[in-house]
This record gives sequence, C-alpha cells and structure tokens, in this order.
Amino acid sequence: MTHPIIEDLHRRYTVKQYDSTKRISQADMDVILEALRLSASSINSQPWKFVVLESDEAKQRFADSFVNKHLFNQHHATEASHTILLAYDPYFTQDKFRKRVDAEVSSGHLPAEMYDNFMGAYAFAESNTDENGYNGHWTKAQVYLALGNLMHVLARLGIASTPMEGVDTETLNDVFAAELDGHVCEVAIAMGYHKDGDDWNHGLPKARLAQSDIIDVI
Ligand SMILES: Cc1cc2nc3c(=O)[nH]c(=O)nc-3n(C[C@H](O)[C@H](O)[C@H](O)COP(=O)(O)O)c2cc1C
Repeated sequence: MTHPIIEDLHRRYTVKQYDSTKRISQADMDVILEALRLSASSINSQPWKFVVLESDEAKQRFADSFVNKHLFNQHHATEASHTILLAYDPYFTQDKFRKRVDAEVSSGHLPAEMYDNFMGAYAFAESNTDENGYNGHWTKAQVYLALGNLMHVLARLGIASTPMEGVDTETLNDVFAAELDGHVCEVAIAMGYHKDGDDWNHGLPKARLAQSDIIDVI
C-alpha cells in the first residue's frame, strides 16, 4: 500500500479549469491561512506578505491586472474560489528583522537574554544584500518555501490549486500596490475545485524524472 502522503502528492495537480460554483469552506480557509503563517524561513525572517483575494471585487481587480502577459491564466482569477498573492520584501532591513526577534522572545521560543545573539543572525540576510540594500533574491526564495508548504497543505485538504508565475507582474503590482505595501508579487496561487469533465489536466499520471536522475543517496 502506498503511503497516504505519496497518495496525496499523486492526487494533487495543477488545475486548468475551475468549477466557479464551488467555494472553499471557511474552516478550510482558516487552516490554509494558519499553515501559511507557520511557514518556515531562513533565520525566521518571514520577509513576506500574502494577499488573499476572496471578494468578487478583489478577484475582478486581479483579472483586470492581466493586460499584456499570460492571459491564459486570467480566467482562474474569477473562476477559482480564492487566489493568494505571495509577495517578498525586496528590502528586508535589520530593523524589520527586530520585529521577528521580538516575536521570538514574546512567544517564549527565545530567552530574553539571547535577544542580541539572535539579532546577529541578520548576518545571513546581510550576506545576501547588495550595496543598495536589495535582498529580493533571498527573500523571494523564502516566499517559495511558503508556496511549497501551501501546496502540500492544499493537497492534504483535497483542495485543488494552480500555482502561477504566469501573472502580469507589472500591472499586478500596480493594481495591488496599497495591499502589497512595498512587497513584490511574482507568483500567485489560485485555489478551489476543478470542473468535472472540463479540466484536461485532471486524473493524469504524474510526469516526474526518476529518483535515480535527481537523487544521490551517499
Ligand atoms: C512556481 C510555479 C509556477 C507555475 N506557474 C504556472 C502558471 O503560470 N500556469 C499554469 O497553468 N501552471 C503553472 N505551474 C504549474 C506547473 O506547470 C506544474 O506544477 C508542473 O507542470 C507539474 O505538474 P503538476 O502540478 O500537475 O504536478 C507553475 C508551477 C509552479 C511550481
């Protein structure tokens, strides 16, 4: 018998056509958003912002942001139950890191007397920061961890999804500038339930390289 984790990962796939009548329950949304919050990141930096598009108005704004690029993804904006914009902080400063270290102490995870030691971990961010203070390559990598975590959680919940780098980044970041609050969105994920009989990607076998191609156990 296959392990349930492997079964879930075989079942999850990228939806190409949503059933626009089906909605994710509030109970499942609660799990999804808390799982996002619990995502791990280097030095617990959490250099991200997630914007959840739930209202018809927000979904329409997302649909309207597809102007020049990747229009093949546009229909998911209004047909999926929800979409989450995942955005990274391109200028993750030491001062912003302080808020995370405050949480380390207030949560009980870090003894107060270790505060300055933990602040020293910012060196990891610093070594990924250029002379203009830009560290978006590093913070974007953290955002993809949250995306991977989210995709796995959705698989376990039996909720279908479409990760999308195919967004019109320029207009998207303009349209949601207020909500993104200085963060940059280059990937989004639509979530919901596939349309029976209308989703050509549903029920197909997984197309992955063999373990022997990509894994060396030494
Ligand atoms: C970061 C990322 C970006 C993706 N962008 C798109 C996209 O814009 N549109 C789309 O239809 N699929 C997109 N995909 C889906 C991939 O093509 C898909 O995950 C891959 O072919 C494996 O298939 P599966 O997800 O069905 O297992 C993306 C996947 C990832 C992980």
